[in-house]
Amino acid sequence: MTRRKFSLQNIRRGSCLALAFILCDGLTVSFFAGTIQRPESRIEKRAFGKLEDGTTVDIYTLKNRNGLQLEITNYGGTVVTLRTPDRRGRFADIVLGYADLRGYVTDTSYFGALIGRYANRIARGKFMLNGVEYQLPQNNGVNHLHGGVKGFHKVLWQAREVPRADGAALELTYFSKDNEEGYPGNLSVTATYVLTNANELRIEYAATTDKETVVNFTHHSYFNLVGAGSGDILGHEIKINADRFTPVDETLIPTGELRVVKATPFDFTRATTIGSRINQTDQQLIFGKGYDHNFVLNKKGQELSLAANVYEPSSGREIEMWTTEPGVQLYSGNFLDKVPGKAGETYQKRGGFCLEAQHFPDSPNQPGFPSTVLKPGERYTQTTVYKFMVRGAKEKP
Ligand code: GLA
Repeated sequence: MTRRKFSLQNIRRGSCLALAFILCDGLTVSFFAGTIQRPESRIEKRAFGKLEDGTTVDIYTLKNRNGLQLEITNYGGTVVTLRTPDRRGRFADIVLGYADLRGYVTDTSYFGALIGRYANRIARGKFMLNGVEYQLPQNNGVNHLHGGVKGFHKVLWQAREVPRADGAALELTYFSKDNEEGYPGNLSVTATYVLTNANELRIEYAATTDKETVVNFTHHSYFNLVGAGSGDILGHEIKINADRFTPVDETLIPTGELRVVKATPFDFTRATTIGSRINQTDQQLIFGKGYDHNFVLNKKGQELSLAANVYEPSSGREIEMWTTEPGVQLYSGNFLDKVPGKAGETYQKRGGFCLEAQHFPDSPNQPGFPSTVLKPGERYTQTTVYKFMVRGAKEKP
């Protein structure tokens, strides 16, 4: 396995004298006490494996100055590992994944994936735009799910490091041709993953089209804040900033109603463990086999706002999730069933949870939901941030 550092990272920190602020390769270098301080974060690239046609797939390691580590492969724009500390400073990998590329090629759980063109479901894979009916693959019973059979999670992205002041950043780009998986328009997509020095995984998406189309991207990491493979997530405490959710039919397509969460097992306006009500006899929980529902975030518009907070008491790990999107899907890993994972572990049912920032499922067929239509000349953008924290850490003496 060859390890190659990017040229920018070959520049050693510190040492040179400078008289002013310097802009170097677009990288801001600040003058401090006679020393140039260069960002401490860095990216390494290595081969992850080969696809059947012989194409090499890479994996990129991003580190921040606090030791957090994120691995992303350009196959599917997928997050493979994410190592964060617990309250005692011990690091663990908190996302579910596979040991090798093959696992991702054959995956049906969307571990760590970048989802597009349309996250979540479109009823019967059909929608109308300007009087034309489009038919997408029906890859989830009668419905279309997560961009189809060969969605963005199964394509190879172009990757490059981009200089940023806030951390290590990897930019992924993909050109999705007109009619790919049945969607109209040539779509140019960029997704930038930043591991910031403020301990955040920040994902910034952008897209443009040459023909009217629908767009809805998300990120599909399964988190387990004790560590991937360490059991179920039922004891994780979650708070979601949503007074309403979108109830679904038995095929998980929204009915169109925005239902108030109060007095239902969907009320996470106060921190509650994921497991405390998951087995109640509630029609929505029965349809979802647990939580697999879109929450309508309390927000004004497209501002980056706090969507959810998850805390795991034994490790002290905590995640805050922020997004510009109107909704978030809480998925409690209901379909996981003895999935062989990264470190020789087996992931059990409810062994991870997903918080998928999104526009509401089936929006192309729901006139009452915020629109997912993207027109030529417009630019789709989305920012979602997962911030990693600990509660109850003792200060070092
Ligand atoms: C999303 C869907 C779920 C399921 C998972 C992956 O969260 O809403 O129903 O498909 O992805 O298994």
